[in-house]
Amino acid sequence: METEFTYEDYQTTAQWLLSHTEHRPQVAVICGSGLGGLADRVTQAQSFDYSEIPNFPRSTVPGHAGRLVFGFLNGRACVMMQGRFHMYEGYSLWKVTFPVRVFCLLGVDTLVVTNAAGGLNPRFEVGDIMLIRDHINLPGFSGQNPLRGPNDERFGVRFPAMSDAYDRDMRQKAHVVWKQMGEQRELQEGTYVTLAGPNFETVAECHLLLKLGADAVGMSTVPEVLVARHCGLRVFGFSLITNKVITDYETHEKASHEEVLETGRQAAQKLERFVSILMASVPPPRKAS
Ligand code: HPA
Repeated sequence: METEFTYEDYQTTAQWLLSHTEHRPQVAVICGSGLGGLADRVTQAQSFDYSEIPNFPRSTVPGHAGRLVFGFLNGRACVMMQGRFHMYEGYSLWKVTFPVRVFCLLGVDTLVVTNAAGGLNPRFEVGDIMLIRDHINLPGFSGQNPLRGPNDERFGVRFPAMSDAYDRDMRQKAHVVWKQMGEQRELQEGTYVTLAGPNFETVAECHLLLKLGADAVGMSTVPEVLVARHCGLRVFGFSLITNKVITDYETHEKASHEEVLETGRQAAQKLERFVSILMASVPPPRKAS
């Protein structure tokens, strides 16, 4: 299969949403594992189960609700994905990234990505927040890329730049806001590497990922960012470090989804507050909505 959706499919979904809500979001937020609480912070909320939205995939992972929530976060018009789609669920990357192009057609100009990730960088501690400076698209090295197939110029160019994927101004503002929040731990910043999952990494794979220059590892985010940058959205995002990856053969510890969700529960409020405050730093929309 060369591609799965036509421009009209994205339009159908966008039109359906525009005719079912009066909200006109500027910012889209993807809530990672255990981070769905962010969507509970919006005011004047109107939500849609993924199952009622035409063309939308369904979320199959515990910890991901499967709802699109419109409303205001700290005064900013937002649409939130409470639950995202992953390659390991068996979805094509076109399906995984379907919502992002719909957001673009809704008039969104900024995408905020959040995820739960394993800490590779030895300086990281469980519960730390890592501002994503860059990513490594490991599945992309073997041709797994949501932009593969015929290019639709209505969304973007054939060969999009990716060297400036994570907005520099927003990253600077994030550091300022973090200092004002007075948290004990410093805000980490680094490179997120994505793997297809669903298994956690072997010890040898963790050693490899560290050598590649990655600071945090997860199973999401990169496909959505590629598609968002392709269609010109401003992107910034954060990883919540829910566990430290295993780098030695002696330990009896191992990663688990339960640990990921439990840390998510404990530290999520900090990230939710952070993202909420940062909404005020997103430049206002160019066109009136
Ligand atoms: N590896 C991959 N994905 C993850 C991890 C991890 O250690 N923690 C949370 N998501």
